[in-house]
Amino acid sequence: KTRILLDCDTGIDDALTLLYLASLVRSGEVDLVAVGTVHGNVAPEIGALNTLRVLERAGLHDVPVAVGAARPMAQEVAYAHDWHGTDGLGETGLPEPSGRPGDISAPEQIIRLARAHPGELSLLAVGPLTNLAIALLLEPALPGMFREVVVMGGAFEYGGNMTSHAEANVWHDPEAAELVFAAGWPVTLVPLDATHPTALDGEWLDRLAAAEGDVARFAARILEFYVTAYERSLGVRGAVIHDALAAMLTVDPSLGEYAERPVRVELRGDRTRGATLWDRRLYADEGGRPPVKVVVRTDVEAFRERLLASLL
Ligand code: BDR
Ligand code: CA
Repeated sequence: KTRILLDCDTGIDDALTLLYLASLVRSGEVDLVAVGTVHGNVAPEIGALNTLRVLERAGLHDVPVAVGAARPMAQEVAYAHDWHGTDGLGETGLPEPSGRPGDISAPEQIIRLARAHPGELSLLAVGPLTNLAIALLLEPALPGMFREVVVMGGAFEYGGNMTSHAEANVWHDPEAAELVFAAGWPVTLVPLDATHPTALDGEWLDRLAAAEGDVARFAARILEFYVTAYERSLGVRGAVIHDALAAMLTVDPSLGEYAERPVRVELRGDRTRGATLWDRRLYADEGGRPPVKVVVRTDVEAFRERLLASLL
């Protein structure tokens, strides 16, 4: 059983990821230990309420949800309203959840759970990395306390989605991402190069729309806004559910192929701030930076089928 502590900025693809994980909780494959939220697609308080809304729809009523960092470490906060709506769930006007976020902050929750279950948890981060960076600053021993850390973020050959070179989760807090990649814990990085080829196409969306279950209808409803934004920017009907790929690889790493490389975040540069750089040289990185596992390819069909099955 994979025991997951999720950090997210719910967000439409984050919401689909929650639905996917909830199905694995129901089937007994995953233990979703807790969720923390961070600024990014929306403010973390909104993200936390969205998380509760989605978990409750999926029948999970007792997963602790903690609100985390409201701003990045060294720049202004910015939200992704164009892609996720001002409410983070595609302007769907969903009712208030019945649960409420807990009292401790998301970085504190990360530390507490890591201390309580040393070496057992997978930390899955699918938003900006501010909460992880704060937790690293508060607890220097944190890198030795997780089984692994899976991060959706970064872009290499593919190019960025916020600027020509920066991917959103890194762009929202480059300093935090740099701390996370330098920390020396076992990081698996799922960049845009891996997520974009898994884009869901019109046929997949039609299959979801034809499904009658409550969860499938809910997923189709929140996806509408995201699909429209995707069509506007790329001219085809589809959607890239970045965060769900990171979740699936956490549960089943055999769906991916990996390259082990040191990764750095560019912190300066008018055009390059927030870009991720991987060192492809065969000799050791001069700064002694530990390598991270970068996902370079995945089983696209398996991803699409498993994601759909989890929503039916
Ligand atoms: C990432 O940015 C967010 O908008 C998505 O939720 C995903 O985590 C993709 O770049
Ligand atoms: Ca996200």
